[in-house]
Amino acid sequence: EQPAGIHGIHRHHVRQAGSIRPHAGVPEFSVQMPVPKVLQPFKGDPDIDFYRVAIKQANSEILPGVQTPVLTYNGDFVGPTIRARTGRPVSVTFTNQLAEHANVHLHGGHVAPSSDGHPMDTIAPNGYRTYSYPNRQQGATLWYHAHSHHTEAEHVYRGQHGFYIIDDPAEAHLRLPSGKYDVPIMLRDALFDEAGKLDFLSPPPFRNIDLANGRPQPYFPVAARKYRFRFLNSATERNYILNLGGVDMIQIASDGGLLPVPVPRKEFRLSSGERIEVVIDFSKFPVGTKLVLGDVQRPVLRFDVTSKAFDDSRVPDTLRALPGLATPTFERTVDMATVFNGEIPDGVINGKIFDPNRVDFTIKRGTTEIWNIINGDSAQGWAHNFHMHLIQFRVLSRAGRPPEPDDRGRKDTIMMPANEPVRIQATFDGDFTGRYVYHCHFLEHSSIGMMAQMEITP
Ligand code: C2O
Ligand code: CU
Repeated sequence: EQPAGIHGIHRHHVRQAGSIRPHAGVPEFSVQMPVPKVLQPFKGDPDIDFYRVAIKQANSEILPGVQTPVLTYNGDFVGPTIRARTGRPVSVTFTNQLAEHANVHLHGGHVAPSSDGHPMDTIAPNGYRTYSYPNRQQGATLWYHAHSHHTEAEHVYRGQHGFYIIDDPAEAHLRLPSGKYDVPIMLRDALFDEAGKLDFLSPPPFRNIDLANGRPQPYFPVAARKYRFRFLNSATERNYILNLGGVDMIQIASDGGLLPVPVPRKEFRLSSGERIEVVIDFSKFPVGTKLVLGDVQRPVLRFDVTSKAFDDSRVPDTLRALPGLATPTFERTVDMATVFNGEIPDGVINGKIFDPNRVDFTIKRGTTEIWNIINGDSAQGWAHNFHMHLIQFRVLSRAGRPPEPDDRGRKDTIMMPANEPVRIQATFDGDFTGRYVYHCHFLEHSSIGMMAQMEITP
């Protein structure tokens, strides 16, 4: 199947297809993949970690020898990684040094509405905002990114994306690969013009270069031992279906944390916003081996086995049990589609374009619901995906079949290709009430209205 978005026309993609001269890119595997730096708290407090992050314009060397203007967190095209711990709150003060409104959403985070980065709740230029993240959730690979309405796609595309990893002391006994053998990898695509500027106006299918941690199709030197890789797809509109040339990867986690048991995978799918964690064991490969991770479109990353190393990590047979499914008391439908009123499309959910003043679903806290997620553009063959704030849900079925590993475990984002309706179950059992959005995480689609709002009531 061909990963596809809505080809051709977006409100923000007014440029004729192919009207820029694209940068030729670089030879595959000619630059090394960096690991994003870990942010240090500016204030040590016994009970909470305080961080500061500036949202600002910067130049970044993405293509070798080329300075690309980007809109970043702290000047880095892949923002600094925040490493949090279950049970220990984090407070991040974001200052907005851009000339336009901005905001920040912790994707996958269980946070109060005031810290969620609601699309209308923005930080004015020269303003700041302190977001509180309680980290009352199990270990997981989350990420933080821009979410102000209409500009979310462009802001994320231009560099407002970073990892937020929750380490869980309750998982330490598993002895999964850790330290420098625990590596977050952010995948996304991009289109550069001849001068090396990021082009946002051409439609997403024209984005011809894949970046891993902000470098084009890089290589990454590894030792002949086990690694834990935390993959995130931060592309605004791209699906990856990745393989390692037939080599097994052991999936250990999905969006919201560890799976009950590890699952060997030769291939996995990752739509925009999703995360998957895999352990790759390079110990069976001699030094000198090169393994390419890629999909039908392009290779995205090469692992080069360059040394031997001691390894006392393991992948135990059982990881972390999932709670039993509660009894649902309500069932709803979420139908994501595109409507054309003239040349410019609107994104809609259940026929309605996003309206911040309208509550679409009212949900009583503590209840469990089933949502049937439908791709209303299936006849055209267009893809979407679905993301819900606040809650990690569970997939009950996809196209009537039990969930494949891509959909297992705690999920907050799922792929929605044509003709694959997905049934999910969510328990709104948290400590928070208020308004949260759910939307297509192809951010070009949410930015034209494919988003709606739920209110959790006491
Ligand atoms: Cu990752 Cu509402 O977004
Ligand atoms: Cu969509």
